[in-house]
Amino acid sequence: MTKEEIRNKVFELQKKISEWDNAYYNLDNPLVEDAVYDIEILKLIKLEQQYASYFTYEELKNSPTQRINASSLTQFEKVRHEIPMLSLNKAYSLSEISKFIDNIKKVANSFSFFVEPKIDGLSISLKYKNGKLIQAATRGDGLVGENVTENVMQIASIPKQISYLKDLEVRGEVYLPISQFLKLNKTLEKGKFNTFANPRNAAAGTLRQLDSAIVYERKLSAFLYYVVSPQEHNISTMEQAFDFLQKHNFPITNVFKVVNSIDEIQKFIDDFATEKLTLDYETDGIVIKLNELEFYNALGQTQKFPHSAIAFKYEPNVAKTIIKDIFITIGRTGLVTYNAKLEPTELSGSLISFATLNNFNYVRDLNLNINDMVYIKKAGEIIPCVIGLANQKNTIDYFKRIENCPYCNSKLIANETFLEEYCENENCPEINRKKLIHFASKECMNFFSVGEKIINKFIELKLLYTPLDFYKLKDKIELLVNLENFGHKSIMKMLTTIEESKNVSLDRVIFALSIKHIGTKVANFIASKVLELKNFLSFDFASLINYNEIGEKITSSLIDWVSKDSNKDFVNKLLEIGINAKYVSNVKSKLFENKTFVITGTLSKPRTYFENLILENGGKVVNTVSQKTSYLLVGENPGSKLQKANSLKIEIINEQTFDDILKSDF
Ligand code: IVH
Repeated sequence: MTKEEIRNKVFELQKKISEWDNAYYNLDNPLVEDAVYDIEILKLIKLEQQYASYFTYEELKNSPTQRINASSLTQFEKVRHEIPMLSLNKAYSLSEISKFIDNIKKVANSFSFFVEPKIDGLSISLKYKNGKLIQAATRGDGLVGENVTENVMQIASIPKQISYLKDLEVRGEVYLPISQFLKLNKTLEKGKFNTFANPRNAAAGTLRQLDSAIVYERKLSAFLYYVVSPQEHNISTMEQAFDFLQKHNFPITNVFKVVNSIDEIQKFIDDFATEKLTLDYETDGIVIKLNELEFYNALGQTQKFPHSAIAFKYEPNVAKTIIKDIFITIGRTGLVTYNAKLEPTELSGSLISFATLNNFNYVRDLNLNINDMVYIKKAGEIIPCVIGLANQKNTIDYFKRIENCPYCNSKLIANETFLEEYCENENCPEINRKKLIHFASKECMNFFSVGEKIINKFIELKLLYTPLDFYKLKDKIELLVNLENFGHKSIMKMLTTIEESKNVSLDRVIFALSIKHIGTKVANFIASKVLELKNFLSFDFASLINYNEIGEKITSSLIDWVSKDSNKDFVNKLLEIGINAKYVSNVKSKLFENKTFVITGTLSKPRTYFENLILENGGKVVNTVSQKTSYLLVGENPGSKLQKANSLKIEIINEQTFDDILKSDF
C-alpha cells in the first residue's frame, strides 16, 4: 500500500470506529458484535503504530484508540470524580503481558499479580459516609460521571449500610446477570418493546432509567473490585482490598487468584477460557493487576490507563474476508448446501478458503453475494461459517438461487422456506459418489483405507456404481493389485475388511443407507426397534412416532424410503450377500441412565466422541435445552444454549468435569 492508501485506510477505520463508539457508549445501541469491534480496533492500533510517521500528532490524538469513551448524557446530575476513573490498557497476547511485566520490573523487584475476570458491565463508584451509602456515580468520561444513587439503591447486592464508619469510596462494575437479561428480553418482546442486544446494554439502559421502580424489577447486580485511596484503610495489596470488600459485605467475584509468574497467568487465562462459559455474567477477558499497591505511584499512568494493571482479551474467533464465489454441494441424501469460496484469510490459527452458507434462505437473509466483504466465524463444528456482511454491500443484486444440480442438471426441489433443498435424481452421479464414501466410512461399514480418493478412482475405473459393488471387488483382485499406488497388502486388507463388514451391527447398516434425516443416533434407536435387517422393509415405521426420539419428519422419510423399489431391491441384495445385521446394544454402564445431555461449543475432540461415551453409559443426547436436560456439556464459543441452560438452572459442565464424572464410575 502507498502512504496515501495507508492514511486513507486509517482515517476510514477511525471514522467507522468512532461511529461504533458513539452508538455503543452514548446510545446503548451497538452496531457490531464485540468480536468484530475488537478485530477492527486492533487493526487500527497496529496500523497507527506501524505507520506512526505518516501521521501528524493531531491525527493520532483524535483517533478513537486514544479517547476515553462514553461522555455523560444529560438527564442525571453530574458528579466529578476526585480521583479519575481510568480505563485499562489491553493485551491480546502473552508477549504483550510480558512487556507489561517488564515495565513493572523497572520499579519493583519482588511482586505478585492479582488476576480476576473483566466484568462486562458499567463501572460504578460508591461513596460511604458514617457507614451509609451516600452517592453512586457512573464513570462517564472518566472525570465527570452521572449521579445514579437513586437507581443504585435498588440493587439488592449493594450494601446501603456498612459497619465501617470512615469515609470510603469503592469502585466496581454493575451488570445484569445473563439469566435476568434473558427474562427481561422475553418480557420486552411480549410487550412489543425493543429488546437489548446484550446484558451490558441492558445494564446501561437500566441504570439510566429515570423510574427507579423499573431498576428494582430488573434485578441488576454488582461486583466491587477496588478501594480508592487504599492506604487510608490499611490496605496494601489487591488481595487485602478484596478481603476488605468481602468483610464489609460488598459483592465480589469468587473467581480470582494471586499468582507469581507469567506461567501462572497463562494458566489462569487457559482455565478461565472454559470457566467463563459457566458464569451467569458476561466477561470481557481478564484483568491482571499488580498485587502490591506500594508500587502504583512509581509506575504512574497515562491519561487513559494505569501502568499497574492490564486487561487481557481473548483472541476473537471472527475474521473478515471477501466472497469470491458462491456454489452448492450435494450430499449423500441429495441435500443442497450453499458454500462460499473466500479470499484466503487466517482465523484462529488456520488459513480459511471456504465457509458454509448453509442454505439459500441463509444467503438471502444475510443479503450476501459474490464480492461482498463478510465476517466468518468458527462455529461449534470445524467448518467456518459466514455470519454476516462486513461492509456496505458491494453488489446491489441478490445472489440468485441455483436452480439445477451442478452434477446432473436436474431441477432442485426446495421447500417453501428454502431451508431444505434436494436433488431428487436417483441417478445423480454426485449423490451416488457421496453414498459410496459414506457407506465405506468408519461410522458405517468401516472399510480399511477406502476414502474419497480411492472411491473416485474406482468410480473412474467403473468398478463401483452402487455400494453393493464393494462386495464384488474380490472378484477383481488381479485388476486391483496391478493398479498404480496400490500395494498388494493393502488391497488384501481392504478386501478382508469388506468381507468382515457383513458382521457389523444393524445401526451401522441403517446409517449407511443414507436415508434423509437419519443420523447415527436415530439409526441406533431404529435398530433397537427393528432388531434385524431382514425386518427392515416390512417394519411399521409409523409406530415409531410414539417415541420422543422420533418426529414426523423421520417417520415419513423412512416410509418414503422403503416404498421405493430401488431401495427395496438394495436391501434385499444386501441380505442376499449375507448381511443380516442385528441390533447390538452398545450400552455398557448405567452411569448416565435417565440423564439427558446437550452439547454446545467446540470441544477438544469431535462431538461424536462425547455422544458415544454418553450413549455407552446409558445416557441420551438431544439438541435443545429444556427443563428435562440434565447436563449441558460446554466447549469453547458456545451458542445461545448456554444462556438458556443458565436461565433454566441446568447443570453446566465442561470437558474436565465430564471426564471426572466418567472416571468416578470406574
Ligand atoms: S480495574 C484503572 N477490574 O473495565 C482501571 N476494571 O477497560 C481500574 N472492568 O473502567 C479498573 N472488570 O469498568 C477493573 N475486574 C475489573 C474489571 C474492570 C471490568 C471495567 C471497568 C473499567 C474498564 C476498563
